[in-house]
Amino acid sequence: MSTASQKRQPADWRADFPILKQEINGRKLAYLDSAASAQKPQVVLDAMTHAMNDHYANIHRGLYHFSQQTTTAFERARAKLAAFINADGEREIVFTRNATEAINLVAQSWARQNLEKGDEVILSEMEHHANFVPWHMLQNEIGFTIKYIPVHDDGTLDMDRFRSMLRPETKLISVVHVSNALGTKNDVKTLTHIAKDFYPEMTVMIDGSQAAVHGAVDVQDIGADFYCFTGHKLYGPTGVGVLWGRYDLLDQMPPYQGGGDMIETVAFDGVSFKPAPARFEAGTPAFVEAIALGTAIDYMTDIGMENIAAHEQALLAYATPKIKAVDGLILHGDNNNKCGILSFTLDWGHPSDVSMILDQCGVAVRSGHHCCMPLMSILGVDATIRASFGLYTNTDDIDALIAGLKKAKDLLG
Ligand SMILES: Cc1ncc(COP(=O)(O)O)c(C=O)c1O
Repeated sequence: MSTASQKRQPADWRADFPILKQEINGRKLAYLDSAASAQKPQVVLDAMTHAMNDHYANIHRGLYHFSQQTTTAFERARAKLAAFINADGEREIVFTRNATEAINLVAQSWARQNLEKGDEVILSEMEHHANFVPWHMLQNEIGFTIKYIPVHDDGTLDMDRFRSMLRPETKLISVVHVSNALGTKNDVKTLTHIAKDFYPEMTVMIDGSQAAVHGAVDVQDIGADFYCFTGHKLYGPTGVGVLWGRYDLLDQMPPYQGGGDMIETVAFDGVSFKPAPARFEAGTPAFVEAIALGTAIDYMTDIGMENIAAHEQALLAYATPKIKAVDGLILHGDNNNKCGILSFTLDWGHPSDVSMILDQCGVAVRSGHHCCMPLMSILGVDATIRASFGLYTNTDDIDALIAGLKKAKDLLG
């Protein structure tokens, strides 16, 4: 970490994001939709331009200068990602298109090989559709049962119920680390320990799509078997995500997509595959995006994940009482173990109407089911408004949100 960056304060970070200098509807932009996708710092935009302008060539196969240079940059990005989550080496990092593809990879490769009729899979009621639909699709084919860890009224997981749900038939637990719809940070380390104490061979997958951006993640400390996240929420580009897997598991798993770059040999009468992670990266990967994701990791690491987490917690402490004081507002996921996500409904206006008025005030929030339709049914709503923070969020953004809500109440209430 450079001395210069250590001295930089949260107030300085925002200037790194050129898009935030724009005005929307004549107002300073208050971008409060980072949980959907984070804005990009200039260094990430530069990294993509550099990779395409200065040494662009396809990776792994070319013996000429640019191909070697790009291959080195791509593999260096893999090493950065391994260090970022404290993986046991870069061979445990599989590049995917996004978190969704990472979960589908585990479903189509590991689960297809290891689950059978009569087995049980445990998810939670707060899963994103990305950690829901792949299991449902496979359930119909294989015939396993899916059970759900209930969510308490305060938006935390019912760990006692989880304990009592474990049975010899339970083979897989796949749970979100931080809920995108509530902001709740689940204690995935304890959850993993409970599962492995019950049955050491139990496989645990964690969807870290929201967690990896809000604080340091240590996959070895958590002790799960798979962990995934998505590049565009980490201030990186779209089109690239990561599956981390324990190497002994990855090594046993069959490829689920076939094509170039993942094979050892191809003959008319048979094919052999490279070891993991190459075995899971069929075809030309999003190498420009992966390289730029590596730069995003450098950027965050340079600021310090602990500093990012502290900044977001300070904002949460500033915003939560102000939000709760808004007339007729119900905060969903009102608990003390949260990341910078506030999800709420209002007894005087539908989330879609309110968020359109907020847009007129230059405030960008998300309204809808947040790809968590099952959770919405538990909350008894069809949608919430979600305001989510990034490292560039400041108290002006929060104030603009509160002022926008007051205006919406005047118009709709
Ligand atoms: C918790 C969670 N899991 C998975 C995803 C899916 O990410 P992607 O669409 O990039 O695959 C998201 C995206 O919103 C998410 O918030």
